[in-house]
Amino acid sequence: MNRKILISGGAGFIGSHVVRLFVNKYPNYQIHNLDKLTYAGNLKNITDIEKAPNYHFHKIDLVDAAAVNQLFTAHQFDAVIHLAAESHVDRSISNPLEFVMTNVVGTVNLLNAAKDCWKGNMEGKRFYHVSTDEVYGSLHDGGFFYEDTPYDPQSPYSASKASSDHFVRAYHNTYKIPVVISNCSNNYGPNQFPEKLIPLFINNIRNNKPLPVYGKGENVRDWLYVVDHARAIDDVFHKGKNGETYNIGGFNEWTNIDLIKVICKTADRLLGRAEGESEKLITYVTDRAGHDLRYAIDANKIMKELGWEPSLQFEEGIEKTINWYIENQLWMDEVTSGDYAKYYDTMYAER
Ligand code: NAD
Ligand code: TYD
Repeated sequence: MNRKILISGGAGFIGSHVVRLFVNKYPNYQIHNLDKLTYAGNLKNITDIEKAPNYHFHKIDLVDAAAVNQLFTAHQFDAVIHLAAESHVDRSISNPLEFVMTNVVGTVNLLNAAKDCWKGNMEGKRFYHVSTDEVYGSLHDGGFFYEDTPYDPQSPYSASKASSDHFVRAYHNTYKIPVVISNCSNNYGPNQFPEKLIPLFINNIRNNKPLPVYGKGENVRDWLYVVDHARAIDDVFHKGKNGETYNIGGFNEWTNIDLIKVICKTADRLLGRAEGESEKLITYVTDRAGHDLRYAIDANKIMKELGWEPSLQFEEGIEKTINWYIENQLWMDEVTSGDYAKYYDTMYAER
């Protein structure tokens, strides 16, 4: 089948892996990547597919409703896979409004463009919203997040994502837009901007800089390799039921401090350092405000109904990831030039 798909945020971390998968796996689809190219968007993430005949790029800010409408009218997309977002919790604490603009207003602009374009003919159309498990809040007494766990967002980031999820469901209910939503746990892998835990720590290990562990390092996250998330997005997009939500995760929980020790040990081995060298860099710093204690996804629905499962064991994934950052020092040097030093100073100087 020929399809014209708009993928938003395709120059970012997860989006770049989704764009690559779709461009290569579906030569009959025309893949249009809409991205504002914020600090987190980087076209170097997708140089391998940029010349493919079924790939097109549009530099557009989702907050600019007129530009989004114009693009939709010009191309009459059949489907949207919406990933563009402000995605870092610490930045959302410093500047919540930016998150409201992109994550809420930007999502509504995209929904409006789809609604106007698809009015009267929703057959075969699909609006896929990629979201996060953080909308469910923080787990304190065991258990998992299920698809029907009540929303309880705790950070400005998760509140903005929860709000965008609500708008997507409201457009499904009110205007009958065919939608599907997935909520995924923490991703790791190549091309992640080094503001997030794993690439930031790998970069600091490389540069012999302190490793800033928030609080006591007891918070728990559930980690999934980014390519496995992209594969899940492919399954949800093609096989997910209209109006449904799918939780995505690898049943792979780690306390931050245990995860950091694995990173240090693996990095020592791969960098030819004495065992224990990188662990010496661990520094406990002031905790994140309102720091969610634990996230954990029950991924049984997507596994049973859509047949998806993670392809990589964590030990393999983390080694692949650290190797990628070691081998792509130029990528890291480029993304940490410019404003990164300023960001790092504001975020970490007073912790
Ligand atoms: P990212 O920050 O790496 O990339 C975001 C992309 O969106 C960038 O390319 C950026 O340029 C673009 N963008 C930002 N604002 C924009 C705007 N106003 N208009 C157009 N483009 C804009 O994010 P990511 O980690 O790849 O996350 C992608 C999506 O997946 C997000 O919706 C996020 O909430 C969700 N998610 C992320 C994780 C994770 O662990 N990273 C886990 C679950 C869900
Ligand atoms: P992060 O990668 O920012 O993802 P999220 O907050 O969306 O889960 O952080 C993962 C965990 O690591 C989280 O508990 C906060 C912690 N953390 C640190 O301890 N130090 C750091 O420098 C960063 C960026 C995160």
